[in-house]
Amino acid sequence: MSNAALERAEAAKLPEDDIIGLLLTQHARMRELFAEVHLSLGDEKKAKFGELRALLAVHEAAEEMILRPVAKREAGEGEADSRNEEEEEAGRILAELERMDPDGSQFEAKLTEFEKAVGDHADHEEREEFPAVRDGCSQEQRRKMGKRLLRAERTAPTHPHPAATGSSAAQWTVGPFASLMDRARDAIAGGDRSRG
Ligand SMILES: [Fe+2]
Ligand SMILES: [Fe+2]
Repeated sequence: MSNAALERAEAAKLPEDDIIGLLLTQHARMRELFAEVHLSLGDEKKAKFGELRALLAVHEAAEEMILRPVAKREAGEGEADSRNEEEEEAGRILAELERMDPDGSQFEAKLTEFEKAVGDHADHEEREEFPAVRDGCSQEQRRKMGKRLLRAERTAPTHPHPAATGSSAAQWTVGPFASLMDRARDAIAGGDRSRG
């Protein structure tokens, strides 16, 4: 089984609003999207790359704001610092990719480098942080964390508007990754404020 299939199988064993299951499903989708970006061309490649960037923004913002504060307690400060550093390094590679033409000659090699950085980072999270959070938090706590992510996802401006689905313009992914991350963080904070 591929990593993505294993992640989906693991997520299927958890309640659908469990933070660990939601993050595992996002890891699976990221791995699939990398393959889809590699395989597509032209407007489709740009749209898939936009989808990957938007998913990464919501995912990394959720890990930063929802998972990592708990992981710090359960897996240790050093662990959390290492994961944050990997995310920063991946962000630097992504910034280089964003300056390239997706149909240009250098893009594929850089995309492969980025895929490896993101994949290794996800592997480390699944080996270190996720088990620590699973063991250290009750199911109720993990579902509460998952609900924060789901609330943010409903309002995340990094998501396509239903009316825009099918549009290759992909207005919802406009701007560099850093600004997508800011919008994703705002969506999580906004979701927290609107609770209840
Ligand atoms: Fe991460
Ligand atoms: Fe992750």
